[in-house]
Amino acid sequence: MRLISRSAFAAAYLCVATVAATYNGRIKPKVMIMTFFDAEGEIYLTKSNATGALDFRGMRHRVPYASPEFPDLHCTADGDACLMTTGEAEIQATATTMALLADPQLDLGETYWVLTGVGGGAPDQVTLGAITLARFTVQVGMLYEMDARELPPGFDTGYVPQGTVSPEAAWGSVYNSEVFEVNAALRDAFTAMIDPARVADSAAAAAYRAHYAGVPRFAPGAAAPAVHHCDSATSDTWHTGALLAETHAKRVDLWTNGTGTYCTTAQEDGAVLGALVRGALEDRVDFARVAIVRTVSDFDRPYPGQSVMDNLVNGTAGYPIAIENVWVAGDSIARGIINCWNETFRTGIPAQNYVGDVWGVLGGTPDFGPGRVSGGKPVVLPGAKGQQLGRKTKRGMRRSRFQK
Ligand SMILES: *[C@@H]1O[C@H](CO)[C@@H](O)[C@H](O)[C@H]1NC(C)=O
Ligand SMILES: *[C@@H]1O[C@H](CO)[C@@H](O)[C@H](O)[C@H]1NC(C)=O
Ligand SMILES: *[C@@H]1O[C@H](CO)[C@@H](O)[C@H](O)[C@H]1NC(C)=O
Ligand SMILES: *[C@@H]1O[C@H](CO)[C@@H](O)[C@H](O)[C@H]1NC(C)=O
Repeated sequence: MRLISRSAFAAAYLCVATVAATYNGRIKPKVMIMTFFDAEGEIYLTKSNATGALDFRGMRHRVPYASPEFPDLHCTADGDACLMTTGEAEIQATATTMALLADPQLDLGETYWVLTGVGGGAPDQVTLGAITLARFTVQVGMLYEMDARELPPGFDTGYVPQGTVSPEAAWGSVYNSEVFEVNAALRDAFTAMIDPARVADSAAAAAYRAHYAGVPRFAPGAAAPAVHHCDSATSDTWHTGALLAETHAKRVDLWTNGTGTYCTTAQEDGAVLGALVRGALEDRVDFARVAIVRTVSDFDRPYPGQSVMDNLVNGTAGYPIAIENVWVAGDSIARGIINCWNETFRTGIPAQNYVGDVWGVLGGTPDFGPGRVSGGKPVVLPGAKGQQLGRKTKRGMRRSRFQK
């Protein structure tokens, strides 16, 4: 567990912006807040009248191909900060992100993408209400799955990497949405913008988390909510229970080469990032300007003596503070970016770590996974300048290098 102390906040990002950018027909957000369902988006609008908060009621823009449930982008009057809600789970998240990328009214070249949503939390890392900032998101459901009642002898889980015959295997065949890695230095900068004293807590959350206090390993789950560095597991399937949590924790470890730590469950993170990689390939997105924030609304497994169903159905005590902390984190980060735009964020914070997908299509060498397809150089698509590494080659590489 990497708990962030208050001292990191004190010195951080206290710039004061005096001049707002001008909105002149095309919206050029400095920051795009991505949320996934109604309550996550609405909290930003409800809090828009809070003292010092960004006011997302300033401008509304209908985005073609957005979710029918959430068709509008909400922005500050100057267009510096915008708020989008994608709709839940992977399909909606990818489709809405692509809709933003395709919208000619948006200039996204310098935009910071801040994903802020609620998720389940692992009690050995975090507690209800915790704010987590990730370096990785891992798509833990993209494997073979066997029902527990039909497990082969010796298997301790029904999840097996595709192209392999063992749950212990690290990698088999690779689709290239298994893992995304984002800019750790940017994550650190954003962390420093969040005042730990503002992390919301509640008596109901405290009463619920106390059930985890008897297990030494779950000490983080029984502690008050704080700000953490740890990683998200993306899956359409809302998993619950200790055994799946342990399986997915192991997958995050294996697929990040031991660098990542599973602490939250999410249904969208990898889906948004997959679209953003494509945006980066088209020069529409700077993939070093992406951050994944999840707050913990419930525990991914029951406390001792509790049934899985009880935790699933009745374990919602953290939900209100998780929603509140989505805004605490997202509003703090967005204001930090805008206020320190000239000093820091216009030019950006260079990534010291690898950023991108499993194959390395944006260039660089992934520090996880079975290798790269492009020899450390970015893939350049037809119509763009530079080295071309087309579809045929990529598929060929997948078969010959990745598939067993
Ligand atoms: C940031 O730089 C721009 C362009 O140089 C300038 O117009 C603006 O006033 C600056 N903003 C602040 C807050 O200093
Ligand atoms: C802010 O908005 C909320 C919800 O719309 C409302 O209840 C509250 O009175 C408003 N506060 C101020 C200071 O305008
Ligand atoms: C949820 O809590 C209620 C009230 O304590 C209880 O009656 C119910 O059985 C619980 N649900 C499950 C699935 O355990
Ligand atoms: C994974 O970690 C091992 C041990 O630290 C290291 O030798 C190996 O190079 C790493 N793999 C990648 C792809 O970085």
